[in-house]
Amino acid sequence: MKKLMLSLAVMLAGLVLYAQAPEILSSRHAMLRLDVKDKYLLIPVQESESISSVKVIVSGEQKQAFNIRLASSKVDYFVPLDIQRFGSDKIVLDFSIRKEGLTSEALKDYVCWWEIRQDDNFDTANRERFRPVYHHTPVYGWMNDPNGMFYKDGLYHLYYQWNPYGSQWENMTWGHSVSHDLIHWDAMPAAIEPDALGTIFSGSCVVDLANTSGQGRGTVAALFTSAGTNQTQSLAFSGDDGKSFVKYASNPVITSDIKDFRDPKAFWNQEIGKWNLILAAGDEMRIYSSPDLVSWKYESSFGKGYGEHSGVWECPDLFKLNVRGTDRQLWMLVCNTNGIPSGGSGTQYFIGSFDGHEFRTDQKETLWMDYGKDHYATVTFDNAPGGRRIAMAWMSNWQYAGVVPTMQFRSANSIPRDLDIFEHDGRYYCGVTPSTEMSALRGRKVKNPSETCEIVVDLKGNAEIVLSNPKGEKIVMEYDPKAGTFSMDRTLSGDTSFHKDFPAKTVAPVHGTLKQLRIFVDKCSIEVFDADGKMAMTNLVFPSEPYSTIKAKGGRATVYSIEQ
Ligand code: FRU
Repeated sequence: MKKLMLSLAVMLAGLVLYAQAPEILSSRHAMLRLDVKDKYLLIPVQESESISSVKVIVSGEQKQAFNIRLASSKVDYFVPLDIQRFGSDKIVLDFSIRKEGLTSEALKDYVCWWEIRQDDNFDTANRERFRPVYHHTPVYGWMNDPNGMFYKDGLYHLYYQWNPYGSQWENMTWGHSVSHDLIHWDAMPAAIEPDALGTIFSGSCVVDLANTSGQGRGTVAALFTSAGTNQTQSLAFSGDDGKSFVKYASNPVITSDIKDFRDPKAFWNQEIGKWNLILAAGDEMRIYSSPDLVSWKYESSFGKGYGEHSGVWECPDLFKLNVRGTDRQLWMLVCNTNGIPSGGSGTQYFIGSFDGHEFRTDQKETLWMDYGKDHYATVTFDNAPGGRRIAMAWMSNWQYAGVVPTMQFRSANSIPRDLDIFEHDGRYYCGVTPSTEMSALRGRKVKNPSETCEIVVDLKGNAEIVLSNPKGEKIVMEYDPKAGTFSMDRTLSGDTSFHKDFPAKTVAPVHGTLKQLRIFVDKCSIEVFDADGKMAMTNLVFPSEPYSTIKAKGGRATVYSIEQ
């Protein structure tokens, strides 16, 4: 009986939708002609499906194009396409399905044709057990690198690599969020969308305080990679403080024959009275200069013979930092790279000098800003107040980011961290300290850890800290003063089965003596900091229930609630 009712319901739904039923033009080609009634078309996605290309056509003209994994047999979730933005009451969706062996009959039976529907609302209420509480996440869809971060007039802006049409990497668009305190983020409409030059890869924003571009004092300019025929660098201006951008008419502004040529990070260099820009070119960085953000002059390359080169270099940054306890400043070049010895993605850095033309270092060691597995694409805010250098990272790893056990959204950013430089045994290192804004979250002392908390551990020497739940799932952290290392083992932390590279033990060198640790837990992440800012380690975990016990052998643990 139930079955009968269900098939009747499905048939009725089919009848209701009949006016918008698909035209199956071939085994790889379908069309949907829509009378636009509501704001959104809700499109069903099945993550295991192959990719289809969709064109939105109005009066024979293509208005938008994107890729999507159309649901064939089961709906994992819906994504919204704003169909009112085209300003027409009739639009056509043209689907090109890339799937071997598909027949017209099978395409006609795709469950998506039954389930696709118009609605004035898209339900963004959180459905995820593992969605962090005090970390930035996209409301829905896939996210990777933080992009274009800047501060202006009391607001921090965070853009990010976003797929608005699924929770796996695709359709790179700049999503946008804003915050007064780097912790509570409000989602904004997408800021920069793909165009004929390509999808929008990573890049940066600057606040043009001196109006060098002629676009007006305080104009926000974005420099990003157009990923099209090849990777080129494009420019866009915002006259409304970063809400929307108008692309520069003569894009691209920087081109090259190099295949991997991307992620421009621009900044004003007071010392030369010009803009500088650093971008990733293969496994090197290239540095440029410009008087006006439009015309760029190649200055030099950096990288040969320095650091880790197993994979391409990505997402650079370059800035001056204070050396702790001195009045000296040094430059730091940040270089995110994939394919590192400890597995997948990581952020290395170089400390040296920069004269606006060339970056120089005599650093011999390869150094990492964070020794966990889930800290990548780290870049810093432009124009941050009080001379602060605030960094945020994408809290995942290219090895498994697409299959972590969340679906409504994928990936979060790290907590904000303030950077500086410290000296130890005659060498310089990057200091990483949770931004002061994090202290406002610290609530009252509580007995046991929970799924969102901060744990402070005072250490006297050798220590073993175990965070566990009643299921026996645990994270084991060890401090070995003799070896000068801190480690975190997540092999038994919960669900690790979704990827062979997820179970892991990560090890960090500690520079000096660890006296106190700050451990931030937020649903699916553990970020550990030396309270003196000399070691950071970020790892994801997916326990089947929250860790509720902490045992600190050789140390004293105090647990604080998080007060939002
Ligand atoms: C780094 C990266 C960048 C690129 C972006 C594409 O994670 O590969 O180099 O611009 O992601 O989404």
